[in-house]
Amino acid sequence: MVTGPANKARETSTIGIGMLGMGVVGTGVAQVLIEKSDYLAGLVGLPISLEGILVRDQSKPRQYEVPSGLLSTDVDAVLNNPNVDVVVEVMGGREPALDYILKSISLGKHVATANKEVMARHGPEILTKAREQGVHVMFEASVAGGTPIIGPLRRDLVANDVVAIHGIINGTTNYILSRMAEGGVEFDDALSEAQKLGYAEADPANDVEGTDAAYKLAILATLAFGARVKDTDVHREGITRLMARDFLYAGELGYAIKLMAMARKENGHLQLRVHPVFVPSDVLIAKVDGVLNAVEIETDLAGRVLFHGRGAGSLPTTSALVADVVNISRNIVGNLRSPTALPLDDSLAIRPMLELETKYYLRVIVADRPGVLAQIATVLGDLDISIDSVLQKGTDETARSAELVLMTHRAREDAMQRALGLLGELPVVHEVGNMVRVEEWD
Ligand code: NAP
Ligand code: HSE
Repeated sequence: MVTGPANKARETSTIGIGMLGMGVVGTGVAQVLIEKSDYLAGLVGLPISLEGILVRDQSKPRQYEVPSGLLSTDVDAVLNNPNVDVVVEVMGGREPALDYILKSISLGKHVATANKEVMARHGPEILTKAREQGVHVMFEASVAGGTPIIGPLRRDLVANDVVAIHGIINGTTNYILSRMAEGGVEFDDALSEAQKLGYAEADPANDVEGTDAAYKLAILATLAFGARVKDTDVHREGITRLMARDFLYAGELGYAIKLMAMARKENGHLQLRVHPVFVPSDVLIAKVDGVLNAVEIETDLAGRVLFHGRGAGSLPTTSALVADVVNISRNIVGNLRSPTALPLDDSLAIRPMLELETKYYLRVIVADRPGVLAQIATVLGDLDISIDSVLQKGTDETARSAELVLMTHRAREDAMQRALGLLGELPVVHEVGNMVRVEEWD
């Protein structure tokens, strides 16, 4: 017999779990809690028992049959059940998930959640409330699926000052980009495949527009830099402008294209961005393909530490959630109160994206006649943007147009944005096809 949550004197001989949601991820969690129950009981020292599962539609066919009576459409039946010690939130979205998490905490229940949207926008508030109530809130599954990254940042790397984070933290877009880079697969088909494999969000626009990665970067940056970072602080661009030819030219130039989430602390400022980048194809992170995620944390003591593994999908995400359930259950058994509050430094300012300095790839469709390149070079040169190389591709003799692929030296983002506007106004430019930033790697 052990005492339950610190403020809730319940004598318990089992750890009761209430789940909110049983979709792609929740199905895996329910299955593992049921099928590995003996093993989990051995880890915790008490049985873990599934007490109730909230769903929207009880009659919907399920991939895994749970004992009858567990499914409910009444949230109070799950949250107010006195046998529930830990609430596993896997319903997604902002509301009512946030409300249910806060209600669970008020009721003295511990929480494990996979919800990056809620943790990115309300993480500090939730963790503060949890601490006041003496309960644990864990959210390993909210970033990088089955790849541990939250635990290492909250525990194993705490002695370090984090300098920078570079990560591929959206499995759906990495899957799409990898399929497009292989050639012959269009964006829409690759997205459908990712959806069928259970990688995509309920609204896949969150994946392809970079929103999901921005949520995750906000969570990582909050923990890594001890700053109150929200997703809206992150400059965000998605992958929808990329075309098959961009992958072709990137390959010829020795680069892969990745949707990268990047954060850096410099001179009291944080730079936070999610957008497609050219990465030299011989660096490790360029070879992270498919649903795999990778996060590199650059620190003062440990140097660079790389985390790599499956970033989405039912069972990898289940791995993170069940580990959180086990860790919370061990804390209940050991009567350990919730961890100390996150120390948050509100003095770190966000550096505007327009101050970024990087190299750029530009693809421009132009009139195929003499003097065109000189006009483009003049626009760029006047803005202090120096061209590193130019390739002429895909001449269309009927339309009398050609495609120019330019790589620049380092230039400022504000200059590049101005150049894009001016190039678009040149009569000899039919279309500015794409601009992708080039990430240097040492
Ligand atoms: P999902 O397949 O859409 O499942 C959502 C579940 O929640 C469903 O069972 C649904 O009920 C239930 N639900 C949703 N809104 C509800 C409401 N208002 N009331 C009652 N029940 C409700 O989503 P998922 O892919 O499992 O994702 C769940 C969470 O995990 C999200 O926060 C997601 O971002 C996160 N996540 C997902 C992955 C992944 O690879 N899929 C990886 C990491 C994190 P019905 O079944 O009756 O419709
Ligand atoms: N939709 C998300 C992804 C799920 O593709 O990475 C994992 O968080």
